[in-house]
Amino acid sequence: MDLSGRVVVVTGAAGGIGRALAVRLAREGTRGVVVSDIDGAGADAVAKLVGGLGVQANVGVEGDVQRLVARAIEAYGKVDVICSNAGIFVPGGEEVSDADWRRIYDVNVMSHVYAARALLPAMLARGEGYFVATVSAAGLLTQIGSAPYAVTKHAALALAEWLSITYGDRGLRVSCLCPQGVRTAMLSDGAAPSFLLEGALEPEAVAEAAIEGIRAERFLVLPHPEVATYFERKASDYERWLRGMRRLDAKARGGSA
Ligand SMILES: NC(=O)c1ccc[n+]([C@@H]2O[C@H](COP(=O)([O-])OP(=O)(O)OC[C@H]3O[C@@H](n4cnc5c(N)ncnc54)[C@H](O)[C@@H]3O)[C@@H](O)[C@H]2O)c1
Repeated sequence: MDLSGRVVVVTGAAGGIGRALAVRLAREGTRGVVVSDIDGAGADAVAKLVGGLGVQANVGVEGDVQRLVARAIEAYGKVDVICSNAGIFVPGGEEVSDADWRRIYDVNVMSHVYAARALLPAMLARGEGYFVATVSAAGLLTQIGSAPYAVTKHAALALAEWLSITYGDRGLRVSCLCPQGVRTAMLSDGAAPSFLLEGALEPEAVAEAAIEGIRAERFLVLPHPEVATYFERKASDYERWLRGMRRLDAKARGGSA
């Protein structure tokens, strides 16, 4: 898709990858950039920077997502591209509390469902629209040290695939942005395993890859190209892949393996 003249909405755009996406999209000659975040002041600051509209919204709450879309349409008439980017990380395994499992599920999965519900009717009626989901390499592979993140990112990828299959012939384009480590607050907060810092990309590089993927209308956008090889290895020999991941898990825990 040619992005010039388009209206785009980016969630989780007060910082990190979302901020970089908003800044980069504005440089493509877009007509309107709606910068949204749960942090309203942060969204407004980025909106000011890109000459867009700041909207406070918690993507885990359907009413907020509906209000965000309504504000975007009020300001610019329609939404051509949604970058459903906001996401959170919760470390731990099955012992993580139900409240935290539900919280991460709402933000990392239901946010995309709410965005699709709010935007698809108008996009399908026009026969055109673009849904960009920031997933993660964790959605294709796994997340060492976090079952909630691995599970919710797999679910987000499954939803994006389903949307592409079901609506692709009616004009909906879908891209899944699946980076490994990216130098943002999520990585530096210390909740994610430190080995991801090695080889981590700057958010601007991830935004660049996203723009290139949107232009090419490619489903899988891999800012770390080696992820394609890991994904192939997983599919071609699951047992071997699991053994390798156990070694990585032990290493991340400081064990020998
Ligand atoms: N940083 C990485 O290594 C990495 C790797 C792969 C994928 N991702 C994904 O990229 C996306 C962006 O992450 P990031 O690294 O930029 O993180 P970040 O923490 O720097 O930025 C996330 C932004 O989302 C906002 N946010 C959090 N909860 C929200 C909610 N409920 N509603 C609206 N906004 C909310 C935060 O205020 C923040 O501005 C996430 O989906 C994340 O899972 C990150």
